[in-house]
Amino acid sequence: MIKRIGILTSGGDASGMNAAVRTAVRSSIHFGMEPYAIYRGYHGMIRGEIEPLNSRSVSGIIQRGGTLLKSARSDQFLTAEGQAKAVEKLKEHDIDAVLVIGGDGSFRGAQDLDELGVRVICIPATIDNDIACTDYAIGFDTAVNTVMDAVNKIRDTASSHERVYVVEVMGRHSGFIALYAGLAGGADAILIPEVPYSLDDICSKLQEANAKGKTHSIIMIAEGATGDPEAGRLPQDSPSVQVSQYVQERTGYETRMTILGHIQRGGSPTVNDRLLASRLAYHAIELLHQGKSGKMVGEVDHRLKTWDLHYALAQEKQLDLEYYHLSNILASI
Ligand code: F6P
Repeated sequence: MIKRIGILTSGGDASGMNAAVRTAVRSSIHFGMEPYAIYRGYHGMIRGEIEPLNSRSVSGIIQRGGTLLKSARSDQFLTAEGQAKAVEKLKEHDIDAVLVIGGDGSFRGAQDLDELGVRVICIPATIDNDIACTDYAIGFDTAVNTVMDAVNKIRDTASSHERVYVVEVMGRHSGFIALYAGLAGGADAILIPEVPYSLDDICSKLQEANAKGKTHSIIMIAEGATGDPEAGRLPQDSPSVQVSQYVQERTGYETRMTILGHIQRGGSPTVNDRLLASRLAYHAIELLHQGKSGKMVGEVDHRLKTWDLHYALAQEKQLDLEYYHLSNILASI
């Protein structure tokens, strides 16, 4: 019999996490269970930052970005000692099962908890959208819309000044944001970690486009499109700096660069993110109520699907390269 549900958000925050928390709290009550907040993810779990929630605690948060439950990345939880402490704290608070809302690091933590006998279900929330077994993760749609909106604005000034703009977006290991926002924003080149690129080829394409009468261009680049996963953490190491310098030197076009940064993580969630968050969280709570554990809930072809966590974590999320090819075709005409 599952009575108390702990709910946590962990890793990089994502718009729509609050919508998921709201649904998780109210669905727990709907199924006759007691929802508890575990603040600051696994970090807070280890420290016993656990408090009861009620229906009113989650009023007025569906439209808010960020996470009411706070988020953190915990190195301590990566150790056996940290995990043992976390399990002890859950027992102290009589938490029978946990809902984890986060990305792949959070899912790995959940897998560890499951192996230690804690019932746990995960739902994907990360702007990177790099979790397999779901088409989309909570927060991705909002982030992509934010980027598209920024590109629209950058295009205005790019066209006035007839410049090349390099726009850098998040995604250390994943090109989803760059690819989707690049295609939706009409980028002339999209540089992502998954596809090797040649700056000389890109310069040649810009020159060909210029010869056809194009007077400004947008190059969309993911922060991880460098070949080095740790690069791009400091502005001077950012790939956009290098790309814009290179393009200016090689073509003589005036370039500018913009790093969109954490603006991509905030803001009111889109309809898609609110719907996804609500549906995933409800189903996850239903599974916890049934005593299930070690699973993630995803959405594939608009239908909710439950997957074994081990299986999901072993899969690599595939980027749809059709988007990439289409963008290249449209930019070359
Ligand atoms: O994983 C989400 C993400 O936003 C990545 O796209 C980005 O590289 C990273 O988090 C930034 O992390 P932090 O907020 O710790 O700087």
